[in-house]
Parts: sequence; C-alpha cells; structure tokens
Amino acid sequence: MILASSTHPRWFAAASGDLQALLSDHLHCERKAAENALSLVRRYPHRADSVGALGRLAHEETSHVIQVAERMAERGWTPRPDTPNLYARALFAEVRGCGEPERLVDFLLVAAFIEARSHERLDLLARGFVSHGESELGWFYRGLANAEERHAETFLSLAAALVPADLLGARRAFLAAREAEILAALPHTARIH
Ligand SMILES: [Fe+2]
Ligand SMILES: [Fe+2]
Repeated sequence: MILASSTHPRWFAAASGDLQALLSDHLHCERKAAENALSLVRRYPHRADSVGALGRLAHEETSHVIQVAERMAERGWTPRPDTPNLYARALFAEVRGCGEPERLVDFLLVAAFIEARSHERLDLLARGFVSHGESELGWFYRGLANAEERHAETFLSLAAALVPADLLGARRAFLAAREAEILAALPHTARIH
C-alpha cells in the first residue's frame, strides 16, 4: 500500500528457519506496537480524535501478544528476552524534533510504515506456512496480517488530519524511501524485521 520495496523472496526461509526465535521476536513486536500506541496517548492526551483510535489499536495489539504467546505455549516454548529492533530504531530516528504537528505526523507515519511492513511480512508468513503444509500457523498469520494492514490505515488517516495533503505526501515519500533503505541494509534472520 505505501511501501517503496518488496521483501526478498528468500526472506521466508530465513524467518521460518527458527520458529521459536521468530515467534519470540513477533511477540515482542506486538508488545511494542501496543506500547507505542499508548505512549502516543501519554504524549498527546489533548488530541481527543486520536486517543480512542490509539487505545483501540493498543487493545488489539495486546490481543496479538496473547495469541502469539498461546502459539508458543502450545509448543512448550517460553518467549525469549527482547533484543534491539534495529529496523524500528532507525525509522524512529527520522522523527523530526522541529515542533508540532510535524513531530506527531512523523511518529504516526513511522508507525504506519512499521504496520505496513509487518502486514507485508505476516502475509508472506501466511502464504509460506500454508504452502509448507503448516495450515494452522498460516491461517493464524493471515488473520494478523489483515489487522496490521488496518492499523497502517489508521495511522495514515490520523496523520492526514494534521497537515495539508502535499506536505503529508512529501514526508510520506521521504519515509518510504528511507524505510526501504533501512530494510535493505538488514540481514535476513528469524525475526519479523
Ligand atoms: Fe499486531
Ligand atoms: Fe499493528
């Protein structure tokens, strides 16, 4: 939808090569998505238009944490400690500190790109697991992929309400190119990104 690049076809093999590591990383991604949405509520409580949407989004991300934890428990696995997410860290480093609403627009756009990339990759996991005979896991990822696509749209529409379309478009194009660049520099491992 908004991404400037597609994930390399070889990514699925690397990501699914260590399912316990992948699910563990995924669980932490969902936790951080919930935390990020709630941190925007903490920073911008006066924006009543976004508080409800962000609260609902955090609620849904928390339900994803529970669902991933269940998939791990079924296999007798415990989530591992989180490790730094270099992808998200590099993207959030692009958030401008030049005042509002630009800063909030960047937070929302970065979140939209992370959701969009998560959607693309969970969709690849859904297709990959189904084609490798892991239908239950495939359908699990199908449901989550659809949710992340909706979340990207939520963040984009919150950003669109803050600045004129031409300014939003320019910032979105810059971040799309940056996101593709950041992703291309990272190795393929058993993580979502
Ligand atoms: Fe999620
Ligand atoms: Fe999400």
